[in-house]
Amino acid sequence: MRKQIAAANWKMNLTYQQGAELLKTIVTSGVSPNENQQVLFAVPFPYLELTNDTAHLKENYFAAAQNCSDKKSGAYTGEVSAEMLKSIDVLFCLVGHSERREYFGETNDLLGRKVSICLTYDITPVFCCGEALRIREQNTQNAFVEQQLRESLFHLSSEQMLNVIIAYEPIWAIGTGKTASTAQAQEMHAHIRSVLQKQYGQEIAQKISILYGGSVKANNAKELFACEDVDGGLVGGASLIASDFIEIIRALK
Ligand code: PGA
Repeated sequence: MRKQIAAANWKMNLTYQQGAELLKTIVTSGVSPNENQQVLFAVPFPYLELTNDTAHLKENYFAAAQNCSDKKSGAYTGEVSAEMLKSIDVLFCLVGHSERREYFGETNDLLGRKVSICLTYDITPVFCCGEALRIREQNTQNAFVEQQLRESLFHLSSEQMLNVIIAYEPIWAIGTGKTASTAQAQEMHAHIRSVLQKQYGQEIAQKISILYGGSVKANNAKELFACEDVDGGLVGGASLIASDFIEIIRALK
């Protein structure tokens, strides 16, 4: 069975103290992921060590970075490299969240380099893809997402691909309270898996976890995660409320 994953994405929210409190509440709440489930906390860089320290109190909880540089090292003021993340035991990193694409001009090509450098340092990239409302209205979302996968992931070997997590996040559903219907989510997830299958074969495509993101809440997580090709969620707003995120962890298959 594929890994089932609940990933919190705090974005640029919460002070260190608020974050510490939230983590402690969730990790000590008694909700215990089984060996096939993982809980990730994608937190701001200054909170990564604290998050790992807290996450280590329980099995299957992990810190994740929200971004990293595509460069190895050097004169890039303000950037954080994959090697630096690795040096503090960060094992996961979001790559290509739509907010990075939109506000920081991140292109498929650049994201392909970020994915590669993460894998070089044994960091699992959580590669985000998904279409804007305009694309959905034109009914070209399948081709659009396929191109994102092709341009950022398909330079990887099969072995590397097995270490990638994909998160499908329709931009029109992020932070808007609008969730994709279970039918829309399942349809796109099945499409993503078929694109992976064409490139890497069925065995590999079946092993890759594909998360859904976009207004996942305590009251819709179970229904979404029950879809055959939905292997958990990447959760923004609802991950900032302990009781909601705990419910979302409980909703994992
Ligand atoms: P949301 O954010 O759950 O607040 O819609 C999801 C995300 O952007 O990862």
